[in-house]
Amino acid sequence: MTRPRLLVVGSGIAGLVTAIEAAATHEVVLVTKGTLGDGSTRYAQGGIAVVLDEAARHGVADSVDAHVADTLAAGAGLVDEAAARVVCGEGPDAVAALMRWGTRFDRTDGRLALGREAAHSAHRILHAQGDATGAEIVRALVARLADAGVEVAEHSLVTELVVTDDAVVGARCVDVPTGRRSVVEADAVVLATGGAGHLYAHTTNPSSATGDGLALALRAGAVVTDAEMYQFHPTRLAVPGGGLISEAVRGEGAVLRDRRGRRFMLRVHPDAELAPRDVVAREIARVMLEQDGEPVLLDTTALGADFLRRRFPGLDRRCRAHGIAWDREPVPVTPAAHYAMGGVRTDLDGRTSLPGLWAVGEVACTGLHGANRLASNSLLEAAVLARRCAGSLARPGAAVHAGEPVPFAPELTEPARTVRREDLQTTMWTAAGLVRDRSTLEEAAATLAAWRCPVDQTTQRYEDANLLEVARLVVAAALARAESRGAHHRSDAPATDPRLQRHLSWVRKEGSTC
Ligand code: SIN
Repeated sequence: MTRPRLLVVGSGIAGLVTAIEAAATHEVVLVTKGTLGDGSTRYAQGGIAVVLDEAARHGVADSVDAHVADTLAAGAGLVDEAAARVVCGEGPDAVAALMRWGTRFDRTDGRLALGREAAHSAHRILHAQGDATGAEIVRALVARLADAGVEVAEHSLVTELVVTDDAVVGARCVDVPTGRRSVVEADAVVLATGGAGHLYAHTTNPSSATGDGLALALRAGAVVTDAEMYQFHPTRLAVPGGGLISEAVRGEGAVLRDRRGRRFMLRVHPDAELAPRDVVAREIARVMLEQDGEPVLLDTTALGADFLRRRFPGLDRRCRAHGIAWDREPVPVTPAAHYAMGGVRTDLDGRTSLPGLWAVGEVACTGLHGANRLASNSLLEAAVLARRCAGSLARPGAAVHAGEPVPFAPELTEPARTVRREDLQTTMWTAAGLVRDRSTLEEAAATLAAWRCPVDQTTQRYEDANLLEVARLVVAAALARAESRGAHHRSDAPATDPRLQRHLSWVRKEGSTC
């Protein structure tokens, strides 16, 4: 008997787990625009948040309820509790599967070592090789994939979803090295394409994070939710090519100082450096403005050279490669775009609003992250939802959510000019970054409306078109949310508006073009 065919797009944790799990019931084809596993997961440092029975046996006071409560509190009123219960509750099984498949998390005296990150009330972050958690997970999953009988196409870019009778039935792809085009027919398509950090001038994301899945889903007519909710990480190493400095470093006791050496987070939040991520990132941005744009300083000196080398070997090498002896001098850091908390709206099995289309991981919005994602909840969400998605492919259908999506069509203006990625990134950083206001957003919307992106054979062009598509929606959504909530901060509407304690959802107007 022929088995149903599944197309998985993307090869981070979400795509790999979906493909491995679904291979038991489906003929699986996995396409990825780079090489296997080179998406954002590989760069995850801090780890994966989970409450394990093993921790309780070792006397760690924690519970799934506490993890749910922390997720709800950080999300500033916008987290769907059902999503938090599913992800936190099924997290232990998903993590057990990762370990069965060969992921080796760090242990101390034989016990799993648990780190702490901002806004978590307990030590509950599993990590691997200190600060190389994502790379270790990807290593194990790629090895497992090889045994699972999954067909893999690397350097294959999906350019369009094929929609027939309002259902997704496959995708058009281009083989990047040869330019050869093909159509992959499938009974179901799972988007696991990650985020869109390259919307912004400063990001912690790898170069592949260009909003591809979001743009594909929008063009196909899927509902997208919480597009305005973009998370900025407080601490990117402020040197060219610097990269992320994990929140786990603050979790181990590092503190933030201004250029005069003062600890500025103490006066802002009772949890100081471990306040929710949006609070820390905004305060850093404010202090940077006060000091003429100079980065703030992450003071790691009290942790000691041995500890820093052992606990954060990758960061230790990176800081030293940039000439920073972080056991003796502070590290210059600045906020950067980190994680898309909104995305293609799904139910808790990954079904989108379009039959045949599923979405898992950063490209999706289950409602878990709300207005501020709790650190290290995303690897967990991806692992849990990927398993649920694979397990429910036999029950296709469209996700239904409360609240009508708003029809969205960019108002295109003339004369049009071809978008330049750097201009788009600067526009987004200025208008839709850490602090937003109506007039700057309106200017950005007008700027974006005059740009076009004619696609040719190159990956760069497709990516630019995808970024432009997503940027327009992020700006429209940021304008529509005339309040401040979590990561979305409007200086012209600094209070939270209880009437806006709801998701904003969007769908492309039929027939509209970009
Ligand atoms: C970090 O290591 O700080 C990033 C963790 C996360 O974003 O979940």
